[in-house]
Amino acid sequence: PHEVKPVKATSDRLNYSGKTILAPMVRVGTLPMRLLALEFGADIVYSEELIDWKLLRSFRRVNDVLGTIDFVDETDGTIVFRTCARERNNVVLQIGTSDPERALKVGKIVENDVAGIDINMGCPKEFSVKGGMGVALMADLEKAKSVLHTLASGVSCPVTCKVRVLPDVEATVEVCKALAETGIAAIGVHGRTRDERPQHGNRNHYIRAVAEALSIPVIANGGSKEILCFEDIEKFRTDTGCSSVMVARAAEWNVSIFRKEGLLPLDDVIKKYLTLSVDYDNNGSNSKYCVQNMLRELQETPRGKVFLEAQTLEQICAVWDLADYCRKRQLEFKAAGLLGRREICP
Ligand code: FNR
Repeated sequence: PHEVKPVKATSDRLNYSGKTILAPMVRVGTLPMRLLALEFGADIVYSEELIDWKLLRSFRRVNDVLGTIDFVDETDGTIVFRTCARERNNVVLQIGTSDPERALKVGKIVENDVAGIDINMGCPKEFSVKGGMGVALMADLEKAKSVLHTLASGVSCPVTCKVRVLPDVEATVEVCKALAETGIAAIGVHGRTRDERPQHGNRNHYIRAVAEALSIPVIANGGSKEILCFEDIEKFRTDTGCSSVMVARAAEWNVSIFRKEGLLPLDDVIKKYLTLSVDYDNNGSNSKYCVQNMLRELQETPRGKVFLEAQTLEQICAVWDLADYCRKRQLEFKAAGLLGRREICP
């Protein structure tokens, strides 16, 4: 029913082998965090998971004031997905879906603004599973294959998926093989089952078995518990026998984990993060959430408590001496015609 465009020359297409990747994380993987991960050395950055129908009810808008492309929810005007030229060749949009045709419609909307599209097949949350999305797709292999095949043959950018392992290693390899035959460019494998939680060990040998059986790149995931510095990312790569690795929590806590030269002090990372939040007019409550996840127990310190009281991006910036910068940029944006937004952070 849909027109199948010729795929782009392979040389322009994102290559997933030998890469270090920012994993998809809801609320964490918005534009400022993705840009900072790239600055620190990540090769590919995944967006947070966006549910297909949210993207389907959004429209694309070129934002000349910020230099971004925005997908705006037509019902309430919120930004569903914001991206920019800097990440055009590195950003992978992750979709939550349970339906091939909806996935394809989303793919056609975003294919020219992103480097790749990923399907979430690992999320164990009730919201996803009830809707037939996330890890539910692994229990419905025909549906999963149909989503991937429809998308991979219908969009011009590469398509991938991110899965969890099954309790049995052979079954895991078989499912991944079947998914790999749909035309996807790579597969991300989180080494925990749908019932395992972050405190459980990661089944690195399951990931290794998948990597040995598949000819497409396998992206190892789930190693953050043992990732305290850049070298640990390399160790995880070796332990899983994968050429690419994807890091979530270790990057959520301190995204300078991607620096070959070593971690930066948290205050430096937060300042850079807030500067990018200001430059891209990020939603204040989203920036607050991300900084909270960086501070963790430091929220209990006197400065942490001041931060927790902050209600606007400017007030958050004030804690790191960036209030003047924030005010100045927001005034510039307003003068250039960007609608002022006075939002209150929870
Ligand atoms: C996640 N994870 C996740 N996975 C996914 O496919 N789509 C998503 O939107 C999210 N969202 C998300 C938010 C937050 C705050 C966390 C901590 C995690 C799972 C994540 O990508 C990864 O699979 C796991 O965290 C395991 O990898 P690490 O953390 O050990 O590197």
